[in-house]
Amino acid sequence: MTYVTEENLTDLAVERWGNIPDPRLRQIMMSAVKHLHGFVREVEPTQQEWFAAIDWLTRIGHMSTGKRQEFILASDVLGISMLVDSINNRAPGKATPSTVEGPFHIVDSPEISNGGNMAEGAPGIPCFVTGKITDLDGKPIAGAMLDMWQTDGEGLYEAQIEGAEGYMRGIYHSNPDGTYSVRTVAPIGYTIPMDGPIGELMGKTKISHMRPAHIHFHIAAPGYKSVTTHLFQKGSDFIDTDVVFGVKEALITDFVKKPAGKAPNGDMVDTPFYEVKYDFVLAKAAAAQKAA
Ligand code: BEZ
Ligand code: FE
Repeated sequence: MTYVTEENLTDLAVERWGNIPDPRLRQIMMSAVKHLHGFVREVEPTQQEWFAAIDWLTRIGHMSTGKRQEFILASDVLGISMLVDSINNRAPGKATPSTVEGPFHIVDSPEISNGGNMAEGAPGIPCFVTGKITDLDGKPIAGAMLDMWQTDGEGLYEAQIEGAEGYMRGIYHSNPDGTYSVRTVAPIGYTIPMDGPIGELMGKTKISHMRPAHIHFHIAAPGYKSVTTHLFQKGSDFIDTDVVFGVKEALITDFVKKPAGKAPNGDMVDTPFYEVKYDFVLAKAAAAQKAA
């Protein structure tokens, strides 16, 4: 029998956690124990620091509900959510890259026909998003679903407005030639929730707690690998410091300011508006699997 010393403890713990019949769970647990021991050996926390860490995790758990997920927020700000997302959504060739879904997606958004307004009654600068959905060879994909959600021009999602319903979100479908056309208002940057243990920790750092202005998309078509992503406004505040590490270069898009007049969907607009053009590229489901 080998009894415990500071030196042999990691080897003993890794060996013990190798005692798992399922090979994947065994790999995960042995690696987790090895890296957690490595962290503790490097940092050498005091007992007080270790209890503070446990108290912090406990409060994250207490704060998490069906509507508020403080653990996911922890994973987001540490860059883990984006790493898991990137590993699981390696985009072949020119396929549109993914980024985090975030907590504000609501299922079953209203169906809106092309050119229709998903920001009816919302404050903000009118914004017209148009483009095409194609495959990797540039062939148009007809009938692709674009499930979209975003903040209004004051930085609020539907979930943050008491009583709002079908607000700043909508489901569009591409035309037979692959084109789509959306009327909305320009989103603005916003803060992640700062009233919990994650906000408390962020407050002890000089890290920005803001996200840059973006529009969320989930795009899906039969036979293609779906993509959950955002379009980011080029030049928007916080674009270089996104608190959740969500900004991939290919997703930064010009929001071109146009004078009042006829908009891309044919509407007459009596204030200046933004025009955004972006073509999304989907990989075939099988090709996407091979690249993964
Ligand atoms: C979002 O984009 O909606 C979001 C993503 C991660 C954390 C908070 C918000
Ligand atoms: Fe968002």
